[in-house]
Amino acid sequence: MTESEIYNTIGEAGFDRLVSCFYAQVPGDAILGPMYPADDMEGARERLRDFLIQRFGGPTRYSDTRGHPRLRMRHAPFPIDEAAVDRWLMLMKNALTEAQIAPEVRQILWPYFVQTATFMRNR
Ligand code: HEM
Repeated sequence: MTESEIYNTIGEAGFDRLVSCFYAQVPGDAILGPMYPADDMEGARERLRDFLIQRFGGPTRYSDTRGHPRLRMRHAPFPIDEAAVDRWLMLMKNALTEAQIAPEVRQILWPYFVQTATFMRNR
């Protein structure tokens, strides 16, 4: 399976499940909870979902509404140190399991998440 085939495999529903499982853990998290907008968790959930859908072969709804992703720049306001990177990845690993993402899809998503999260570190 290639990156661009993931959307066809798990669909909108798969990405929706994944980010829902991820964001369900955020408000109660001591490191990540305070960084995310408590009054707009649904918006944050949709932004990550639409970004991932676009990145892995689905419709370009993310860029249609948000423009170029420029992820590192958009994360600059948040203090992302090694502990925050590790925590983000831990919650995403839990989410991949809870959302029952198929092993062949995980095999592609997981290294991507590790690489991208590491790249977001700014402290
Ligand atoms: C490394 C640890 C990370 C931390 C602490 C972090 C934290 C945050 C926070 C606090 C926001 C603002 C929430 C919002 O209102 O949208 C955000 C937005 C976002 N994050 Fe992360 N993030 C991390 C890694 C990642 C990774 C690995 C990805 C991609 C795979 C990602 C993709 C996004 C996207 C697409 C947005 C919305 C950007 C926008 O359009 O404004 N983040 N992140």
